[in-house]
Amino acid sequence: MSSLECLFVAYRLQPICPIEGRFGARGQAEFPLRALQFKRGLLHEFRKGNSSKEQVHLHDLVQQLPKAIIIGVRKGGTRALLEMLNLHPAVVKASQEIHFFDNDENYAKGIEWYRKKMPFSYPQQITIEKSPAYFITEEVPERIYKMNSSIKLLIIVREPTTRAISDYTQVLEGKERKNKTYYKFEKLAIDPNTCEVNTKYKAVRTSIYTKHLERWLKYFPIEQFHIVDGDRLITEPLPELQLVEKFLNLPPRISQYNLYFNATRGFYCLRFNIIFNKCLAGSKGRIHPEVDPSVITKLRKFFHPFNQKFYQITGRTLNWP
Ligand code: A3P
Repeated sequence: MSSLECLFVAYRLQPICPIEGRFGARGQAEFPLRALQFKRGLLHEFRKGNSSKEQVHLHDLVQQLPKAIIIGVRKGGTRALLEMLNLHPAVVKASQEIHFFDNDENYAKGIEWYRKKMPFSYPQQITIEKSPAYFITEEVPERIYKMNSSIKLLIIVREPTTRAISDYTQVLEGKERKNKTYYKFEKLAIDPNTCEVNTKYKAVRTSIYTKHLERWLKYFPIEQFHIVDGDRLITEPLPELQLVEKFLNLPPRISQYNLYFNATRGFYCLRFNIIFNKCLAGSKGRIHPEVDPSVITKLRKFFHPFNQKFYQITGRTLNWP
């Protein structure tokens, strides 16, 4: 039996168990870290001074390049997806957006710099990072391909008009925080001269998913992508996560137990175990401003043909209007 299989057998026997149960007696005797602490990232503990370099070395912990990346889409639910996948015992998330492949200055620092930004994990685990800007940045597919041409790529999408409004809402909030005024969404999304959809507006361009995906397909075959339905991840996260587990060749470990609906937040929150649960930050799930229905209709009509192409390319049909 391979060490990976061993790991999964151990999981099956003990769904929520201390780390020592999963990784052998050595962990129990010398490093009684519970799964919870581990899942929050040993690097985090390491930085807080709660674990030493020797402990990291002793437990064969390594900083691994990601085997899968959530490349986008901004406001699609990328944080929720990453946090939910991190419920899986074989997944370790990079907490911060690294922006290695989309930022020239970071990219110039080299792949070792990137690897050192990754959390500590056991070699059998997989590291996942998310940087939503990757999806729309021209240079990124080639750069990721050069790192690992067989990497798995996750794209979480939402109905394009809703995503564009969510994008706008985030920018609006930033402006308001700085006491700045900002245009209404309608003014940005519709060109006042032509009364057509303003394709120069970034929030609109980002929602033309097929255009971006086509650039990625010059480097990676479609089989290396998995599309997550971000609207369904909000209302019914488990089946979406199960599809991702399958895509990543992970045994199904995330269960209904790990996800509970929090009526106050209006979203699903995460339960790691009996002690530790958490909801996403308040910046996830903002109230969107009201948008003129005729503008919504116009945008939906505009996105329709691009959506059809996206369904056709990806083989995943989403019920967008
Ligand atoms: P809104 O703020 O428009 O509601 P991202 O992490 O890519 O920035 O995406 C943010 C979006 O994630 C939020 O958009 C929210 O709707 C969605 N989301 C999905 N599942 C969520 C969850 N469980 N808790 C909070 N937000 C969630």
